[in-house]
Amino acid sequence: VKIAVLVSGRGSNLQAIIDSIEKGYIKNAAINVVISNKANAYALERARNYGISAVFLNPDEYDRAGYDREILNILKQHNTDLLLLAGYFRILGNEIIGIYRNRVLNIHPSLLPAFKGLHAQKQAFEYGVKVAGCTVHFVDEGLDSGPIILQKCVPVLPEDTEETLTARILEQEHIIYPEAVKLFTEGKLKIEGRNVVARI
Ligand code: GRF
Repeated sequence: VKIAVLVSGRGSNLQAIIDSIEKGYIKNAAINVVISNKANAYALERARNYGISAVFLNPDEYDRAGYDREILNILKQHNTDLLLLAGYFRILGNEIIGIYRNRVLNIHPSLLPAFKGLHAQKQAFEYGVKVAGCTVHFVDEGLDSGPIILQKCVPVLPEDTEETLTARILEQEHIIYPEAVKLFTEGKLKIEGRNVVARI
């Protein structure tokens, strides 16, 4: 399975997936290219450290459709089977989603369908929930709305700040994202309407 990853920043989830491939937890898969919409994304450096092709695509040089067409070109060049969004802070165009239907995954730092969109951990913290978490889901045309693959919850503790809660959630992201990728690459995910059944 040939994987492409879209990123915008730090890339700790990218790193978790790289590590899982290196360790042999995810087998028969390779990350062939990492694409960023930010020139200084640390995720690009992480990719280069492993000899993975790292591409900065400057949004200022394209219109919206042109930008996504360029992403598509790169995905095709690398014969991409699976596209991962890992801290990619830009809307992915419907054309790519259509062509890669049920082959695009995203990690979101909340228990969806609660707290969609940006700053999900802050939203959860300010709402005062007592349980928070993260979700890996298939990407469809809506905002954080595709079929859910895996979720993990964490407690919100009385002494928590937004930062400590965010860190506790991130730790679980690094576990469930590789797990979902492993299930996908082993062909174990079956989508039945909104419901994703993992045949383990
Ligand atoms: C993660 O919290 C992820 O859930 C969200 O953006 C953050 C990206 O972190 N979509 P990183 O770049 O993977 O370290």
